[in-house]
Amino acid sequence: MIQTVGSHLRRGFASVFSSRTSRKSASRAGDADGAMADGEGYRNPTEVQMSQLVLPCHTNQRGELSVGQLLKWIDTTACLSAERHAGCPCVTASMDDIYFEHTISVGQVVNIKAKVNRAFNSSMEVGIQVTSEDLCSEKQWTVCKALATFVAHRELSKVKLKQITPRTEEEKTEHSVAAERRRMRLVYADTIKDLLANCAIQDNLESRDCSRMVPAEKTRVESVELVLPPHANHQGNTFGGQIMAWMENVATIAASRLCRSHPTLKAIEMFHFRGPSQVGDRLVLKAIVNNAFKHSMEVGVCVEAYRQEAETHRRHINSAFMTFVVLDADDQPQLLPWIQPQPGDGERRYREASARKKIRLDRKYIVSCKQAEVPLSVPWDPSNQVYLSYNNVSSLKMLVAKDNWVLSSESNQVRLYTLEDDKFLSFHMEMTVHVDAAQAFLLLSDLRRRPEWDRHYWSVEVVQQVDEDDAICHVISPPLGGNPKPQDFVILASRRKPCDNGDPYIIALRSVTLPTHPETPEYRRGETLCSGFCLWREGDQLTKATGCPRRTCMEHACPTRRALPACCL
Ligand code: COA
Ligand code: ADP
Repeated sequence: MIQTVGSHLRRGFASVFSSRTSRKSASRAGDADGAMADGEGYRNPTEVQMSQLVLPCHTNQRGELSVGQLLKWIDTTACLSAERHAGCPCVTASMDDIYFEHTISVGQVVNIKAKVNRAFNSSMEVGIQVTSEDLCSEKQWTVCKALATFVAHRELSKVKLKQITPRTEEEKTEHSVAAERRRMRLVYADTIKDLLANCAIQDNLESRDCSRMVPAEKTRVESVELVLPPHANHQGNTFGGQIMAWMENVATIAASRLCRSHPTLKAIEMFHFRGPSQVGDRLVLKAIVNNAFKHSMEVGVCVEAYRQEAETHRRHINSAFMTFVVLDADDQPQLLPWIQPQPGDGERRYREASARKKIRLDRKYIVSCKQAEVPLSVPWDPSNQVYLSYNNVSSLKMLVAKDNWVLSSESNQVRLYTLEDDKFLSFHMEMTVHVDAAQAFLLLSDLRRRPEWDRHYWSVEVVQQVDEDDAICHVISPPLGGNPKPQDFVILASRRKPCDNGDPYIIALRSVTLPTHPETPEYRRGETLCSGFCLWREGDQLTKATGCPRRTCMEHACPTRRALPACCL
């Protein structure tokens, strides 16, 4: 079977490369729809917009829009978008990490746009964009982007949501990557727990100057809120945005107690609403500064709910971690005092905050960097494995979802598409093979079998089986381009089954570096940023296969960054 799939691909792809008769460029099938969708008048049917003029009653001590108020508006806009798609009430299940790029001043307008990126079973991912606008100068700024998950609730019955059909390139990309983000979200708590357990952080508490230390205890805050009808939807469930606003309030008080000035909230780590709360509940919010670094501090907040008649029965509703800085008049971050944690839980949280900071920075680097900014090979380590794997799959999905691929040649029913942007020349091949998609996936995703059908793979050794779907492999391939040395690659191979019917099977490959497999004089080290296969089921025994290498043109000439010859991966 592997021979059938492999030889289809080998013969097919080889014939495209040998075909010198480049056809007149033609658009990829389906572009007509894309063009229509991008054209005038198209608006995503789930899109909801909110514009608010920032008044003094919305601002904090610094005269800027309070993040709590912004979170309420974000949650409301996103909820209305989710409900527009679901056709029934929805609750906030989670809000992914948010990084605030700009503050918003009184008198400015905040514009919020939300749309459903993808519907799963009963949950949906909603993408939210927040910009601010200065009415006098007409300037606009991006404030933040957020991703929230809402769950549709119909009393007594489980809701099965209708699918979203993405139309524009941006919608297709978000739709495709949303499945990978969901996978990451659902294991988030376990991932963080594992990482914290394995992340060795040095605490240099003993060597710190005690005169600059503030006991963490001094920053502790406890505050109660009674959930009233204006805080809840028509079914009596507390709005997620309201809870986030209350959390931001206590976190700001704790942060102010450390710096004795007015701090600015820079980032929030994932809000996960573990359980609902209703009108009549009492919510107890507790916050404390877990750790203070040179220019930033982490404040942790936890929320519990109880009914008056059962005060001892407290439900854990949410916990979140917020990063604050203190800015001077020129918006430069100021030095912060050190924190002296309480023995026991305080010291544990102190160490965990340091670990979270490292994880946050690694993750921000991998997940939010633009492709062109990430070096080809990122060092592999347990604290970034989830994000590298996410980046591996989502990069391939984003590349394939682009709608400016141009058909440059076709031979033996194999189509070669190219795509040029500022830095990259990418190409992919598309063909139909007479094999069931699941079977083709099983065979192609086992990289150890690739030398059986691909002469560009001499050998593949699995160096580390990271989890069921991710493995790091050492690949050796023949010499190329006049250089007598064979090439070797250290590759993270990530495979994914479809999340629903329209999804492809994915086999994504990207280079990583491993201390156990350094460059050796024996081989020329090759690298790939993003390559692999997407397999779409087209029938019982019919699969559309896309082989997708990308190569960097400008860096191709640079000896320190040897981009991969495309025919190899
Ligand atoms: N992030 C994103 N989605 C999540 C999630 C998380 N942390 N935890 C669960 N979900 C999704 C699941 O993937 C599932 O989606 P699917 O149906 O599309 O596959 C959906 O939520 C239901 O999951 P299930 O396992 O059946 O239910 P649960 O017992 O985990 O409950 C909630 C999930 C969100 C319904 C539940 O935790 C809840 O009611 N939370 C409070 C929501 C709320 O009231 N928010 C407002 C502020 S209190
Ligand atoms: P953890 O203690 O593992 O961090 P929790 O969910 O219990 O997780 O708490 C989240 C955060 O809320 C803590 O890191 C801490 O900053 C804050 N917190 C928890 N309990 C209290 C408390 N009793 N007083 C003040 N802050 C608290």
